[in-house]
Amino acid sequence: MAIFASGGGSNAEQIIRFFKDHDSISVDLIVSNKRDAKVLRRAENHSIPSLIIRKKQLSDSTDLLVSLEVFGITHIVLAGFLLLIPHQLIKAFPDRILNIHPALLPKYGGKGMYGMHVHKAVFDNSDSYSGMTIHLVNEEYDEGRILFQKKVMLKAADTPDDIARRVLSAEHRHYSEVIESYVLTGQ
Ligand code: GRF
Repeated sequence: MAIFASGGGSNAEQIIRFFKDHDSISVDLIVSNKRDAKVLRRAENHSIPSLIIRKKQLSDSTDLLVSLEVFGITHIVLAGFLLLIPHQLIKAFPDRILNIHPALLPKYGGKGMYGMHVHKAVFDNSDSYSGMTIHLVNEEYDEGRILFQKKVMLKAADTPDDIARRVLSAEHRHYSEVIESYVLTGQ
């Protein structure tokens, strides 16, 4: 698989570790649109090749598709990747692109709903719980088929940062296993 990430890549790190000695699934490439993304350092530490792409190289994915083929990529895992995946890529990887969203979709999804924006919205609504969603990617933000959701209970005193921390820790616990099951069984 290839992991696409724009930022810190703590999910990417978990996934890389999980699949390190796996029998049939491997992380073969890290793709980022940010030259200074911490995830690139993580890739280097694990000796995984990485690719930095500009927005334009994503919107016209012709060259990217060649690279993905060269690396034998069958699945793409988005882990904090902030650009919209274009039609060309979705067509080349039908039902083979997974994303993780830090809330219980369809709540708190859609354009502009990423990172702390999500957790601040949950905080502003005084929700007693939030959660995470792992879903397939289609051409609309956050609207592909849901594979897995996990509720995360919140405390009244939780700040947006606390909410982010709780949700992220649930992401770390579940994303790799959901990827494994989906890649192996399609479920
Ligand atoms: C996660 O909260 C994920 O749900 C969202 O972006 C964040 C990425 O965090 N899509 P990290 O880069 O994996 O630490």
